[in-house]
Amino acid sequence: MLSTSTILLFGPQLALAETTGGTFREYIDTFDGYSFLYPKNWIQVRGAGADIFFRDPFVLDENLSVEMSSPSSSKYVTVEDLGPPEKAAEKVLKQYLTEFMSTRLGVRRESNVLSASSKVADDGKLYYEVEVNIKSYASNNELAVMPQDRVQKLEWDRRYLSVLGVENKRLYELRLQTPEQVFMEEENDLRRVMDSFRVVKTE
Ligand SMILES: *[C@@H]1O[C@H](CO)[C@@H](O)[C@H](O)[C@H]1NC(C)=O
Repeated sequence: MLSTSTILLFGPQLALAETTGGTFREYIDTFDGYSFLYPKNWIQVRGAGADIFFRDPFVLDENLSVEMSSPSSSKYVTVEDLGPPEKAAEKVLKQYLTEFMSTRLGVRRESNVLSASSKVADDGKLYYEVEVNIKSYASNNELAVMPQDRVQKLEWDRRYLSVLGVENKRLYELRLQTPEQVFMEEENDLRRVMDSFRVVKTE
């Protein structure tokens, strides 16, 4: 297969390589030390609060981001510092629930850890993978006097996938968020994104 590479240089250290070919593009951040593949048609959103953020152009609540601990204050040696994968999964879930905390009346969240596992990637490093489902129910008439009028309906049903890795004494997390229904349709592609996440040694 033919492929082309473009290297864009931002300042002295950050090299952003984008390899085209196939349905994925590779995003490499040599400054912060990570890389992954993402679906070619996804678009980058700036100022979304993460180190990097891409989203599907059509499905607005399908996106991916990378976050990491600060270089100066974190001292991670291995991803096992988080405990076993199950323990890490609880932390990930808690983090999501905190972020999606709602102050609206009549909102209820139902969450499940679907899987928590570890793998050694082709770079020889250990990664954790966590999958979580969160459902949000809301009632459209919370102030109704009669309980039977306060019916809670499913508002959204989403899959959250995280890959965690440690390098440069920092903890890195790739997060994928998508509606459960879209996940079913695009599972192979989304798993490819998850599998591609690597943490890389910086200078
Ligand atoms: C990313 O997707 C999640 C849900 O899947 C959504 O809550 C969030 O607002 C999206 N983020 C952005 C910046 O679009």
